[in-house]
Amino acid sequence: MAEKKVNYTLLSQRDEAPPPLQKLRGQKRRIWLWALAGILILVVNFTVAIIQSISDEDDGLVTSNKPGCPQYPPLESSSEERQKLEIEVRNELSSDAFSNKSLKKLQGAIQIPTESFDNMGKVGEDSRWDIFADLHAYLKEAFPLVYSRLDVTAINTYGILIKWKGSDDSLKPYLFMAHQDVVPVLPATRDKWTYSPFSAHFDGRYVWGRGASDCKNNLVGILEAFETLLEKDFIPKRSVMAAFGFDEEISGPQGAKFLAAHIEETQGRNSIELIVDEGGLGFKEMYGALFALPAVGEKGYHDVTITVETAGGHSSVPPDHSGIGILSQIIAAIEANPYSANLTPANPYFTTLQCAAEYGPDMNSNLRKAIKRANGSKAAAKSVANYLADQDIAQRYLMQTSQAIDIISGGVKINALPEKVFAVVNHRIAVESSTSDIKNNLKSVISSEILPKFSFSLDAWGDVTGNVSNSSVGRITLADFDASLEPAPVSPSDTDAYKTFTGTIKQVFGKNVIVAPSLMTGNTDTKFYWGLTNNIYRFSPVRDDGRANAHTVDERVGLKEHIEGVQFYTQLILNGDV
Ligand SMILES: *[C@@H]1O[C@H](CO)[C@@H](O)[C@H](O)[C@H]1NC(C)=O
Ligand SMILES: *[C@@H]1O[C@H](CO)[C@@H](O)[C@H](O)[C@H]1NC(C)=O
Ligand SMILES: *[C@@H]1O[C@H](CO)[C@@H](O)[C@H](O)[C@H]1NC(C)=O
Ligand SMILES: *[C@@H]1O[C@H](CO)[C@@H](O)[C@H](O)[C@H]1NC(C)=O
Ligand SMILES: [Zn+2]
Repeated sequence: MAEKKVNYTLLSQRDEAPPPLQKLRGQKRRIWLWALAGILILVVNFTVAIIQSISDEDDGLVTSNKPGCPQYPPLESSSEERQKLEIEVRNELSSDAFSNKSLKKLQGAIQIPTESFDNMGKVGEDSRWDIFADLHAYLKEAFPLVYSRLDVTAINTYGILIKWKGSDDSLKPYLFMAHQDVVPVLPATRDKWTYSPFSAHFDGRYVWGRGASDCKNNLVGILEAFETLLEKDFIPKRSVMAAFGFDEEISGPQGAKFLAAHIEETQGRNSIELIVDEGGLGFKEMYGALFALPAVGEKGYHDVTITVETAGGHSSVPPDHSGIGILSQIIAAIEANPYSANLTPANPYFTTLQCAAEYGPDMNSNLRKAIKRANGSKAAAKSVANYLADQDIAQRYLMQTSQAIDIISGGVKINALPEKVFAVVNHRIAVESSTSDIKNNLKSVISSEILPKFSFSLDAWGDVTGNVSNSSVGRITLADFDASLEPAPVSPSDTDAYKTFTGTIKQVFGKNVIVAPSLMTGNTDTKFYWGLTNNIYRFSPVRDDGRANAHTVDERVGLKEHIEGVQFYTQLILNGDV
């Protein structure tokens, strides 16, 4: 931690950012002086960009495999017979009849309020889970071929596992994931919705409702893809599976955890070719190009409880600092020592930036150069990290461990000193880091900044230091608040699975889409599935303007975009089959 702090201070105290980004800031400051030169540079840059984009098209740049940002070509039909089937499916999915059918299926699923609450008990004990039986009955009716022809198994009552057995057992199955549960609608926000949250109102463009884009659309979309191909009597060579948890929004302890364990038990470790689950980013316009951003990694997660125990007593004769005061000083020390932003090739966001630098025409040329140099030069990487972290907090936390004090508790009586107070710090761990770094860091901040002032003992996960002569009077304890999670292993971007997956994105969403691997700051149900495959892609196949307001008021999904997602799932099944 000490080292981190020094770095941070040095950099933030510097007058000038390290080269080459100092150019960026210098230009801003002396803009009046450089106006003419600036215009000239712009003109030259534009001309170069135009010439480049013209020659790039000739080179097929978007599908070429430049170092740093691997791109693979859109897939094509493998045979004439297959092409016939693909055209048939595509025509059907783009028909009015399908659109109407798809709307009904999606609406029916949204209308069943499968909310999962933080304090939910076990399945079978807490009756709030019962609503999931309604969803199961609905899905069985809406997807008759899936339920009659495929193996559908209930796992821990409400988990759904579907297996469509292929004709060739030597091919590992593709696994599609989604969750059946939705974030609850807060009673206080219910009347803020334009359309009632479980009405699934269709306005001609969007289907509105809780779960419309997170992620009943994926759940229904996957089943529509299965049903459509079953209607065509398609028989896959490669087995295709689906796993639908029911408590993703409360971390998946009863749903995904059981599903993953069941698959691992029945099919073995590393038995799956690839997994596609929901993703946070989907598509995004960046620096003048359209990117698809499947997440190939997730940050880690660690909640730490800090407890301070002090002597109680009457508050008319208080010590200089009560337990609450000391806990406050600990919190202030933690916030004064944030982690720093770092950019290394181990971070998928490093690759996202390489892709943006390679393919985003509107990126400032100094930034572009710095990003490209970041592979070989740690100084360049650091300057890019600092520059982007200052620009915007969302980018900062793709490169930096976050720490947020979210819970505090202590004191119940206005004339009594509290004997025991605590706070909980939530961390999202950078991909290069780990839960043990978090532990060491907290221990070192408290040891260096708090213990010298208060001569307390510090019990950090059982490791006791500080003044232990009277530990019952002054004790600080660090412990896990709940289960922690290391950063996810990063899925490689040179496997056959990745080529098929990204080639399908380009085939369905357009060959000019750049696929850039990305990082999620949150976690999905895939955290239980690491043992099943290295190829895990968190990606919701819905264009950016096709979904809005997940987890809040007026959540919705575009019907046209939803159907494009069905096309994606269908095409991926077909492409996996060669
Ligand atoms: C980064 O450097 C490594 C090792 O020199 C090389 O294999 C890789 O292709 C480079 N990546 C980029 C982004 O240029
Ligand atoms: C689809 O629904 C619209 C609106 O309800 C209707 O006008 C149209 O006839 C339907 N099309 C088909 C092919 O069912
Ligand atoms: C340790 O705590 C006791 C009281 O609990 C105090 O008398 C003593 O001075 C402390 N020792 C140090 C080294 O701070
Ligand atoms: C420890 O603190 C308690 C409570 O204030 C006190 O009664 C006791 O004498 C102390 N013991 C030592 C060894 O200082
Ligand atoms: Zn979700």
